[in-house]
Amino acid sequence: MLWVRILATVLSLTAIQLSAQPTYKEVAPILESHCQSCHRPNDIAPFALLSYDDAATWAEDIKRVVNEKIMPPWKPVAGYGEFKDVNVLSDAEKQTLMSWVDAGAPLGDPAETTEPSTPTGEWRLGEPDMVVKMAEAYMPPRGQDDYRCFVVSNPFDRAMNVRAVDVLPGNRQIVHHVIMFLDTNGQSLKLDEAEDGPGYTCFGGPGFPITSLSFMLGGWAPGTVPKFLPDGVSVQIPRGGRLIMQVHYFPVGRTGEDVTKVGLYLSKGTNDRQLLYIPVVNDTFTIPPGNANYEDALTTLTPFDLKVYNIFPHMHLLGRKIKVDATVKQDDKSLIYIDDWDFKWQGFYDYKEPQTIPAGSRIKLSCVWDNSEGNPRNPNNPLKTIKWGEGTQDEMCVAFLGVVIDTNLRLPFRVLK
Ligand code: HEC
Repeated sequence: MLWVRILATVLSLTAIQLSAQPTYKEVAPILESHCQSCHRPNDIAPFALLSYDDAATWAEDIKRVVNEKIMPPWKPVAGYGEFKDVNVLSDAEKQTLMSWVDAGAPLGDPAETTEPSTPTGEWRLGEPDMVVKMAEAYMPPRGQDDYRCFVVSNPFDRAMNVRAVDVLPGNRQIVHHVIMFLDTNGQSLKLDEAEDGPGYTCFGGPGFPITSLSFMLGGWAPGTVPKFLPDGVSVQIPRGGRLIMQVHYFPVGRTGEDVTKVGLYLSKGTNDRQLLYIPVVNDTFTIPPGNANYEDALTTLTPFDLKVYNIFPHMHLLGRKIKVDATVKQDDKSLIYIDDWDFKWQGFYDYKEPQTIPAGSRIKLSCVWDNSEGNPRNPNNPLKTIKWGEGTQDEMCVAFLGVVIDTNLRLPFRVLK
């Protein structure tokens, strides 16, 4: 019948016009390269984005978080330090995602969509050489953020050289992030004994001064994904040393038991260079109440030749900006700049090439805080003067540089006025 043929023609014309609109075929590769590192089973995001059904279910939310630049959560500003695995959507990719959602999240021809090659196993770097875990299950109190440190001893009777650390949250519904610290002199055991229940309360750091003998070990901060250190470089956990897992529980609406595990990937090399996390610290600031844009900076002089492999900037809830620059023989070299600090999205950022900073270079660290009522994350009501400290209400301004140094000396960095 004629009218059927006409209708069919009209429909196929519409289809041709619509073909400019993306279908899942165009969307899948974007999700694979920008989202699935976290949005996969057993990982930190609360749901997977592996299949068409996943993406279609979350379509409206995807549009919102992409539009508001909430996802993917990558914090360093482009042009300040060159990092590996930068996770930022291009304008074209963003547009594809938005147009796809606006078009009703069409599947298109399923035969044209390729399966993602994202690993869906538990450990994203493959089976670890060693898995350590919390000694007993912990159940955080419901309805509030809970920062808890758990101590795990080096399971070997010798030093271990670690090339990568990954974390497998026991209860993904409530674990928001895990940062690993290293305790070389037993301070964490005293803190553990002083508190009832598994582990002890800690916020931001391991509960003792992170500027002294403890070091970072790496971690599973939600802003970045774990990676192997380059061949020949590893972090040493001394014999008798302890690993501290700092777990941020976020049991909103429900709680439950958690036993989080840590996977250690050991180095096979016998002649590794040791990576140390050296804190560049400003612990002398005083942030006045009501100030929405308080800045404090300091400059230190490095006494060693440094090769910087990665960097972990750290502030608490009032933090808004953090910036690290080195001056190498009059030349300024930017190490990192985050202009929209969010305690929720911390990470180790690995340089594409290790950054060489010769002895005598200046390293400048500057931080900006918002201690006003207008800061929705401000934990203090009424407002207070804020100084350096370990508590949720205290602040920090520190950048850990993951470095290899050419001497065995471990002197503190000297602060210049
Ligand atoms: C580094 C890990 C990571 C990456 C990469 C990532 N996400 Fe997420 N995403 C999370 C986590 C964790 C959450 C849980 C919310 C939170 O903790 O704030 C989340 C939450 C979400 C939500 C729900 C947010 C809400 O407000 O309801 C959406 C939608 C989402 N992600 C989409 C995406 C998309 C799309 C991409 C890629 C373009 C992406 N994510 C990349 C970790 C990630």
